[in-house]
Amino acid sequence: MANQIPEEVIEEIRKSNDIVDIIGEYVQLKKQGRNFFGLCPFHGEKTPSFSVTQEKQIFHCFGCGKGGNVLTFMMEMENFSFYEAVKFLADKSGVTLPEAGIKKESSMSEESQSILSAYDWLTKLYHHLIRFTKDGKEGYQYLKDRGIENEAIETFQLGFAPNVKDFVAEFLTKKGFHQQLLVKAGILSQQNDNDVTDRFRGRVIFPIRNHIGKTVAFGGRSIADQEPKYLNSPESELFQKGKLLYNFDLAKKNIRKENEAILFEGYMDVISAYQAGVRNVIATLGTSLTEPQAKLLNRYVETVVICYDGDRAGLDATYKAAKLLQKVGCGVKVANLDVDMDPDSYIQKHGPEAFKNKVIKASDTYMSFYMRYLKKDFNLKIEGDRLKYIETILKELTMIESSIEREYYLRELSNEYSISFETLTAEMDEYRQKRGIPKDNQQKNRYTNKTNITHRNKKLLPAFYNAEKKLISYMLQDSYITDRVQDEIGASFSVDDHKIIATHLFAFYEEGHSPDISLFIERLNDDRLKQQVVEMAMMPEMGDISEREINDYIRIIQNESNDSININSLKEQQKLAEQQNDPLKAAQIAMQIIEIQKHSKNTN
Ligand code: CTP
Ligand code: MN
Repeated sequence: MANQIPEEVIEEIRKSNDIVDIIGEYVQLKKQGRNFFGLCPFHGEKTPSFSVTQEKQIFHCFGCGKGGNVLTFMMEMENFSFYEAVKFLADKSGVTLPEAGIKKESSMSEESQSILSAYDWLTKLYHHLIRFTKDGKEGYQYLKDRGIENEAIETFQLGFAPNVKDFVAEFLTKKGFHQQLLVKAGILSQQNDNDVTDRFRGRVIFPIRNHIGKTVAFGGRSIADQEPKYLNSPESELFQKGKLLYNFDLAKKNIRKENEAILFEGYMDVISAYQAGVRNVIATLGTSLTEPQAKLLNRYVETVVICYDGDRAGLDATYKAAKLLQKVGCGVKVANLDVDMDPDSYIQKHGPEAFKNKVIKASDTYMSFYMRYLKKDFNLKIEGDRLKYIETILKELTMIESSIEREYYLRELSNEYSISFETLTAEMDEYRQKRGIPKDNQQKNRYTNKTNITHRNKKLLPAFYNAEKKLISYMLQDSYITDRVQDEIGASFSVDDHKIIATHLFAFYEEGHSPDISLFIERLNDDRLKQQVVEMAMMPEMGDISEREINDYIRIIQNESNDSININSLKEQQKLAEQQNDPLKAAQIAMQIIEIQKHSKNTN
């Protein structure tokens, strides 16, 4: 828990990690007034209701209600325990955590932690061997022959597993790892009972890192003609191919910056492109793109450029990936590679500049790709086929929201197949109608930049409720206002959560803290309370509050609390009267209650 790491250290870590920078690595934030806005990473949305304030160092989503400080964000985002979030941010900002007395609670099983540590040791060993030793020479030569320079070998921690049977087993068991664990981790293969060998021996090693940069598996490339060409670690709790993207940890920042990710099929494509100076690059791990991967990408970028092999299989895979990305809401472009090329071979043959300008920058829109891709199913020399082809394209075109874009493709079709633009438009409109898509002028403009903040709670809330929230929002920023409230009404707020928050705030300032919302929520141990505080802290500011305004809030809260005390005691009396069979008295009391309620409605 929080108190096992000294509070000063946690504070230092919080102060040295600006929340806008940290969240900016995950969410595209745009400044609007005093706050930053973006699409919430915790729930699917199309208009940004996720806001971050630099001043207060907190975030809040008006859509799903999640909120907190930089530590809470890391815990939510990466599923970290508190300790892991602290450690992660400490490492990022170069703060050293005191070792003694800290229980390193982790969200991971002990076995997984051991496996991670084994992979970490082994990555370093294999890498050392390839860079500096005779044992790794073959691997080094292989990479050199493929045009991979030392810098990329460093960045990707590439390595070589020497063709020696028990090299790794010996190295790791000496470090205290159990043989069975290493077998389970897919580092050693077990032949028969006790005979184990290095699973990757004789292969160039591509460490596969998860999104926070920890090696969770290896891909081993054979350098002779040994089969299979690539051998990967088996799936485990730590390594699930379908959820991971190769190089995501390093590419993340560049992906954000470019607002575009380039998706490849292979490790070598990523490394070649990286070496060519294209850094927003990732790859699936020898399987087709999965929905979790597509969703992950959609959280980070507006557009994914699919850059698969130029062959038939590559085109089919591109079509599938494009459909999936669009389904989760992501824009798609398709790089146009020659049939016999993969991105790596293109870069080796034509160089970085050609790759950037002629392949990536010259990417097709999805629709252009689709028009090209679909041709394979038709013989366009035959009229019947040609009409079917056009029909299929028109159907696909109905899905495009922008009328300008639609018109562009209609003109293209019209020119290419000599059919009048009007005929094509009429046909497409018919399809759109069948699908129940409204005419253009009734559509909302999805290209406006206006931020639609959707408030969760649209109900009209009673005045005392709003007054309490308003007052607490000021108390969070001002210890003097808090002092006054404490003197005049103490914690007699009507909403229980508000009572508790006020009590914590009194204590917080009494301990001598200055207003610091991020620190304050750090000390609340109840998530619900944290969220409420964040929500109140995010309320729009009116500038300086006047004396009168404070008085008004206090009065409203006081009245409500008096009324409810009165009502409660009257209700007790009413019950008693009923029990004592005194209906007249019970009725009189009921009238009194109604009077108070009416009165409180008028004043509130
Ligand atoms: N792959 C795999 N197992 C195989 C073949 C491929 O896991 N037997 C995965 C690897 O991740 C590889 C990707 O699929 O990077 C793409 O395969 P392929 O295009 O055949 O490999 P390349 O990336 O072109 O690799 P290389 O250039 O080294 O031949
Ligand atoms: Mn290749």
